[in-house]
Amino acid sequence: MAKPLRIALTKGRLEKDTIGLLEGLGYDCSAVREKGRRLILPIPDANLEVVLAKANDVITYVEHGVCDLGVVGKDTIIEMQGKFFELVDLGFGRCRFALAAKKDTDFYSGFGVKSIATKYPNVARRFFESKGMDVDIVKIEGSVELAPLLGLADGIVDIVETGVTLRENGLEVVEDVVPISARLIANTVSLKLRQTEIEALIRKIEEALQK
Ligand code: PRP
Repeated sequence: MAKPLRIALTKGRLEKDTIGLLEGLGYDCSAVREKGRRLILPIPDANLEVVLAKANDVITYVEHGVCDLGVVGKDTIIEMQGKFFELVDLGFGRCRFALAAKKDTDFYSGFGVKSIATKYPNVARRFFESKGMDVDIVKIEGSVELAPLLGLADGIVDIVETGVTLRENGLEVVEDVVPISARLIANTVSLKLRQTEIEALIRKIEEALQK
């Protein structure tokens, strides 16, 4: 048998849905479900080897070719960019990037340069560049909603899923930036060298998504 295709999966929010998708294809993911602290898990009947990693690292591993495939959010793809192929929109992990600010404030009023807090500086920079707007970007690592509440920023560019975090912190969406969902990505060389297997997997996934 050929060596397993190695697929990097984003730990956390996307993990359950990705395993659900693979089980929906008929694969036995019990090793992944019972992983304990192990980070590399086999799915023998699919000839897959699962690597569990943080979103940014999924892209790094796929770009460097140590993983053939990856499942990662479009948010991370847009922020990190990089050299890999984006193959399939997996349909789960749906949310959006949005610009948000304190409720009932007119974000676009006034002439001063606005400050924007975000975990995604590239996304924020490109968004405001597309508007021809000069902004100061402050990189924050998490709970970005704090920044406008503490007076550090006029607005945030962040992921909005249900909108509850914004609402419960007195913030509101000013403008949607771009929709997000989980994507299957591939290393460029793997896609050539293991084309038949990868295409077969894509076909199975696309069939399952249509059901
Ligand atoms: C994300 C995002 C928002 C929240 C949005 O944060 O940064 O804070 O989820 O979800 P909602 O619209 O459903 O409320 P995450 O939970 O990943 O934590 P973090 O802020 O620490 O990164």
